[in-house]
Amino acid sequence: MARFVGLAVVALQLATAAAPLPQPGTCGGVAIEYPFGIGPNCSLSDGFNVECVDDTPRLRLGGGGEQEEVVKVLRIDLLRGKIRTTNTISWQCTEKGGATAGARLQNSSWTGLNATALPYRFSDEDNRFFTLGCNALVFLNGEASGIDDPILSGCISTCFGNASIRNGTCSGIGCCEMAIPRGLNSYSLEFTGPLVNSSSNNDWCIYAALMESAGFSFEVAYATTDMFYRKNNGTVPLLLNFVVGNETCKEAQASGGYACAGDHSVCVDAVDGPGYVCNCSQGYTGNPYLPDGCTDLDECRPGNQVCPPGMICSNFPGGYNCSCPKGQHNSSKSGVLICEPDQKQSSLPLSVIVVIGVGGGLAIVVTSILSTYLVRQRRALADVKRKYFAQHGGLLLYEELSSRQGNAFTIYTEEQLEQASNGFDESNVLGRGGHGTVYKGTVASGVVVAIKRCKLMDERNKKEFGKEMLILSQINHKNIVKLLGCCLEVDVPMLVYEYVPNGTLYQLIHGGPAAAAAVSFATRLRIAHESAESLAYLHSFASPPILHGDVKSSNILLDESFMAKVSDFGASILAPTDEAQMVTMVQGTCGYLDPEYMQTCQLTEKSDVYSFGVVLLELLTGEKPLCLDGPEEGRSLSARFLAAMRETRVDKIVDEKVKGEASDELLEEITQLALECLQMCGGDRPAMKEVAERLGGLRRLHQHPWTQDAVELEEARCLLGSSPESISFEVDASHGTDSSGY
Ligand SMILES: *[C@@H]1O[C@H](CO)[C@@H](O)[C@H](O)[C@H]1NC(C)=O
Ligand SMILES: *[C@@H]1O[C@H](CO)[C@@H](O)[C@H](O)[C@H]1NC(C)=O
Ligand SMILES: *[C@@H]1O[C@H](CO)[C@@H](O)[C@H](O)[C@H]1NC(C)=O
Ligand SMILES: *[C@@H]1O[C@H](CO)[C@@H](O)[C@H](O)[C@H]1NC(C)=O
Ligand SMILES: *[C@@H]1O[C@H](CO)[C@@H](O)[C@H](O)[C@H]1NC(C)=O
Ligand SMILES: *[C@@H]1O[C@H](CO)[C@@H](O)[C@H](O)[C@H]1NC(C)=O
Ligand SMILES: *[C@@H]1O[C@H](CO)[C@@H](O)[C@H](O)[C@H]1NC(C)=O
Ligand SMILES: *[C@@H]1O[C@H](CO)[C@@H](O)[C@H](O)[C@H]1NC(C)=O
Ligand SMILES: *[C@@H]1O[C@H](CO)[C@@H](O)[C@H](O)[C@H]1NC(C)=O
Ligand SMILES: *[C@@H]1O[C@H](CO)[C@@H](O)[C@H](O)[C@H]1NC(C)=O
Ligand SMILES: *[C@@H]1O[C@H](CO)[C@@H](O)[C@H](O)[C@H]1NC(C)=O
Repeated sequence: MARFVGLAVVALQLATAAAPLPQPGTCGGVAIEYPFGIGPNCSLSDGFNVECVDDTPRLRLGGGGEQEEVVKVLRIDLLRGKIRTTNTISWQCTEKGGATAGARLQNSSWTGLNATALPYRFSDEDNRFFTLGCNALVFLNGEASGIDDPILSGCISTCFGNASIRNGTCSGIGCCEMAIPRGLNSYSLEFTGPLVNSSSNNDWCIYAALMESAGFSFEVAYATTDMFYRKNNGTVPLLLNFVVGNETCKEAQASGGYACAGDHSVCVDAVDGPGYVCNCSQGYTGNPYLPDGCTDLDECRPGNQVCPPGMICSNFPGGYNCSCPKGQHNSSKSGVLICEPDQKQSSLPLSVIVVIGVGGGLAIVVTSILSTYLVRQRRALADVKRKYFAQHGGLLLYEELSSRQGNAFTIYTEEQLEQASNGFDESNVLGRGGHGTVYKGTVASGVVVAIKRCKLMDERNKKEFGKEMLILSQINHKNIVKLLGCCLEVDVPMLVYEYVPNGTLYQLIHGGPAAAAAVSFATRLRIAHESAESLAYLHSFASPPILHGDVKSSNILLDESFMAKVSDFGASILAPTDEAQMVTMVQGTCGYLDPEYMQTCQLTEKSDVYSFGVVLLELLTGEKPLCLDGPEEGRSLSARFLAAMRETRVDKIVDEKVKGEASDELLEEITQLALECLQMCGGDRPAMKEVAERLGGLRRLHQHPWTQDAVELEEARCLLGSSPESISFEVDASHGTDSSGY
């Protein structure tokens, strides 16, 4: 490293003081620009010296062993600090019969690359390590810049269970794929003997390579043939990150050898180890390593549409602006920015008036001009719509909605929602959940709403979003929080829900002993029944069914009359479908999670049934689903309940209030229902529809004229002299009006 920096200083002195700057050159069609160069004294340092041999640009990276590995340079991307090179595919072949026949390595080639002495790292965002084959265990030994300990990892691929082998999926069967450690700058591969004894009667080979993952797609034939090797002629692309110094930007600026020379050149600290690179500042492009190397980026160049159609783009150094032609002004219609004629300005109507005076023949001409004008306007509008909405599949939504007149669903603009929530002010935050942050707001029509700003979504979700909104917007059930609208013109969409004022069921049950004690069994039963009905409705609403995915008491909101309204549904819709993400993104909430889902990663209707069973327990016992203070085996409410059921002492854990109000028969029925919901195996749990029906039956059973509910109702009527439907007579008013569970 010392030598490298020393040379950097020398090179810069050369650059600034003595010699003219190295001229950009090309080799084999690849542009080679400073800090890279061809030949001695033409590059920033030895590490950037590109050899041009037989019209092929090459870079020397040390090999893992004695020999030096030479990689071919395919492209240099100065502004991203990356170069694209080639890597060789390593392989090992074993003779037929494998270990059982006395394994003999027929051939092997194992290589590595070693850039520890050079300013390069293998990009961890672009590259992955792959092995292909049916009997492969390949170790990757390496070092990463800025990390002292050596790295040891590896990849296994087998063909056991090869029925599941599929094109396009590197699943460990026939193909193994591994992310590499950040900052990796040298590695060598080690093939172990056959992983398992094989009775295969053929020779077999395994292949391994560190390579750019973007262009790779697994094919079934790669596992058992040499097709991958042959298709690629033995080499694959590899991306390297480079740095131009081993210091941080701050240190480099203070020291002599700062490489970001130009006026519009900015320094960027490397993310994968010590060092920095240079970039052109916003609105500029070119070579940030040369004085005056960064020049204005012409954003308005033909073919680079940055302004909405119909708007005029004007470029200025470091930026651009979009404006409307003379006589027009910009206007935001349903989140779509367009140019509209100014109010009074109406050259067209004027000419129409003239024409009417002049005669019919001309009128036809003008009418056709007018109509082509309108057609063009409409086409421009459609273009804008497409541009802004396409990303979220909003075009479909837009068209569907405009054809469905009278629908209460609204597409809001960003400004509208910003205004409604007072600029997403912290004081308006109702809650933060797994899917985003919820704000209270008042839209222009005076309606109070809850605005959910979603968290970042993956690409698939973006594309499906419009279609999903369409489904969710049609859901109309008195016990489900209504989706009133959405906003698609921002990177991460926002959803607008009806505002439900009386907090969550969680707050009601666990908000303090006084609050909980005030909730009668009849009310608990009603809330359970209403929630079950709404979930059954969701499950039957569409095909494939809409799953809630995160049923819990804090997702059951309560309105003015403490009617249950289920919120935050559609987790299934918004959930990733590809396996890779499924693993890392566990849905749901601890204490409510379906144990089967944790094993299969497959959310089903029965997962909702399980979670609902836990809510039922909360209602019956008044306890939280997870109690982290208690002894380990008693932490989970469902586990405690199941243990109590086994020992037939379930009445020990039921809430006193419930015990006092519910008949033994009723209590037995309802605990039996909860038990069924909490079965380990999804197939043994009842469907949500059945749960709702049984809860409905229990409610009727409980509804005698002399029940607590009726007495309370009577009392309340006397006390307050108002209509019982609109008041809350069971709940302590101190109970907060925040609802956070959207
Ligand atoms: C960077 O290079 C300088 C000069 O050779 C050396 O003294 C210093 O230790 C290096 N710093 C790091 C973090 O490697
Ligand atoms: C490169 O620079 C070194 C040191 O300044 C000088 O001695 C050498 O002659 C130069 N080589 C070429 C080919 O210009
Ligand atoms: C890379 O080369 C350096 C010497 O330049 C050596 O110390 C290091 O062990 C090598 N790394 C690997 C993984 O072979
Ligand atoms: C340099 O700026 C461009 C454009 O802003 C950006 O795409 C690129 O990632 C930046 N490069 C680095 C190394 O940050
Ligand atoms: C193995 O190496 C030998 C000679 O080195 C060569 O003739 C043979 O074709 C190689 N086999 C494979 C499968 O590459
Ligand atoms: C899958 O396994 C079957 C039997 O075990 C074998 O005949 C077949 O060749 C295997 N296929 C692959 C792609 O390994
Ligand atoms: C996999 O893809 C290859 C190439 O596209 C094709 O020839 C082959 O039939 C596909 N195999 C399967 C099982 O889909
Ligand atoms: C493979 O077979 C040989 C001989 O039958 C045996 O010694 C060895 O342990 C087996 N290896 C594995 C991994 O099963
Ligand atoms: C492999 O080499 C052949 C012949 O030299 C060539 O036609 C083909 O394009 C090459 N394929 C790749 C992926 O480089
Ligand atoms: C946009 O650029 C034009 C031309 O440079 C300039 O006249 C106009 O004031 C700019 N508009 C804004 C809003 O900056
Ligand atoms: C729209 O016009 C207003 C006033 O004319 C201006 O302030 C605003 O920046 C314009 N918006 C865009 C995106 O050009």
